[in-house]
Amino acid sequence: MQLTKEELKGYFSDDIFAAISETAENLGLECYAVGGYVRDIFLKRPSKDIDVVVVGSGIAMAQALGKRLGRHAHVSVFKNFGTAQVKYHHIEIEFVGARRESYQRDSRKPIVENGTLEDDQNRRDFTINALAVCLNEDRFGELVDPFEGMDDMKNKIIRTPLDPDITFSDDPLRMMRGIRFATQLNFHIEEETFASIERNKERIEIISKERIADELNKILASPVPSIGFVLLDQCGLLELIFPEMAALQGVDSRNGRAHKDNFYHTLEVVDGIAKKTDNLWLRWATLLHDVGKPMSKRWEPKVGWTFHNHNFIGEKMVPNIFRKMKLPMNEKMKYVQKLVGLHMRPIVLSEEIVTDSAVRRLLFDAGDDIDDLMSLCEADITSKNEVRKQKFLENFQLVRQKLRDLEEKDRIRNFQPPISGEEIMEAFGLGPCQLVGTIKSTIKEAILDGVIPNEYEAAYNYMLEKAEKKGLKPIK
Ligand code: CTP
Repeated sequence: MQLTKEELKGYFSDDIFAAISETAENLGLECYAVGGYVRDIFLKRPSKDIDVVVVGSGIAMAQALGKRLGRHAHVSVFKNFGTAQVKYHHIEIEFVGARRESYQRDSRKPIVENGTLEDDQNRRDFTINALAVCLNEDRFGELVDPFEGMDDMKNKIIRTPLDPDITFSDDPLRMMRGIRFATQLNFHIEEETFASIERNKERIEIISKERIADELNKILASPVPSIGFVLLDQCGLLELIFPEMAALQGVDSRNGRAHKDNFYHTLEVVDGIAKKTDNLWLRWATLLHDVGKPMSKRWEPKVGWTFHNHNFIGEKMVPNIFRKMKLPMNEKMKYVQKLVGLHMRPIVLSEEIVTDSAVRRLLFDAGDDIDDLMSLCEADITSKNEVRKQKFLENFQLVRQKLRDLEEKDRIRNFQPPISGEEIMEAFGLGPCQLVGTIKSTIKEAILDGVIPNEYEAAYNYMLEKAEKKGLKPIK
């Protein structure tokens, strides 16, 4: 992890860094690479954007650099923010003047004053994000680490450079960022820093829902998402930003019978699905698969705790949760909703003798999302009893096989009934009416039940037969 100055220089070997050195020399300014780019060098993570702090005007620096680089450089100035961006081939660098900032209590808008490099490092969120590498010629590649960020990196610790109450109060989104970094990097949040998140959690109120959702998505996209959700819960943020998830917690016990803790169960399932897929929306569906359980929980003396229809209750809750959290309300939400609603179906199938008809119906309802649904359901089996678990998984394999066989035979996945409403109207000289719908769905049901094959001619004959019973005669 430790790099010598020479090794560190290797990460700044592109022409553009030499041009920055020369420009800085001409203008008599100090320039440092800071933040995520420097951190990610040590973590060996690919990094996208490069931030450079200039002790002086970032905009003047970017404009002079643009001139030096010539026509291949593209400079954009953001006067309001006091920043400028230089694009040069595939590299993008953001220039900003070193600042000393203080924030007003109810706003994220800071009062900005010019400052030194140290002022600028002081106002950053975590010690590992406050490392700076000098880009001036005489000190090129020198690491400036006033808060022992390298030690924290080595010991895998998230810690604020200043008193955490100040750092979090300046920008409460950092509480979420800290938990997100701990999850992505598998780092530990230092005790004082964590205690401060607990104290300041209510301040999350001033942060926009979009930014919170952004951090939640990053937590969920991490290798082991449960790390983040447990931390969010422990500090009390979860209750504030995602109460439906916090409500999954707890175990009730009556007459010596307890149900499982649905919060920890859900997290186990989410970690399981995270091993199988990067699909963020399948991860969301997994996170929400049991979200209807608290509302559906009942004690039934003969059976114990039950959660009847929790899948349908959960399905109904999904749009509200997405809307509140400013998550997308498009087909992604619909996909999550569908999987939450269907997640009990494969389990029921695997417990009973599987009929073709039941498998066809599942294929019809799940369509192209059938494989994702099966993956969710397999991850959902978290029984500690290995024999039981194996039995379930074997049954799922049977269901999967049956799904494949039937799909090959009947092509149900994107099933469209072979006879359209127009054809029915034409055949019997009918206008649009309820009877047309009834005939259409009778044909669909017969195909799903395997009474007739999923073919045009069989469906047409079946339609004639059923219509005759209703006293209808074809007009041709
Ligand atoms: N920063 C901060 N407080 C914030 C956001 C950012 O102090 N609320 C500082 C940190 O020094 C951070 C740098 O600005 O390293 C760049 O921020 P950003 O690009 O948002 O994050 P990265 O640290 O690069 O990480 P990621 O891209 O994963 O968000």
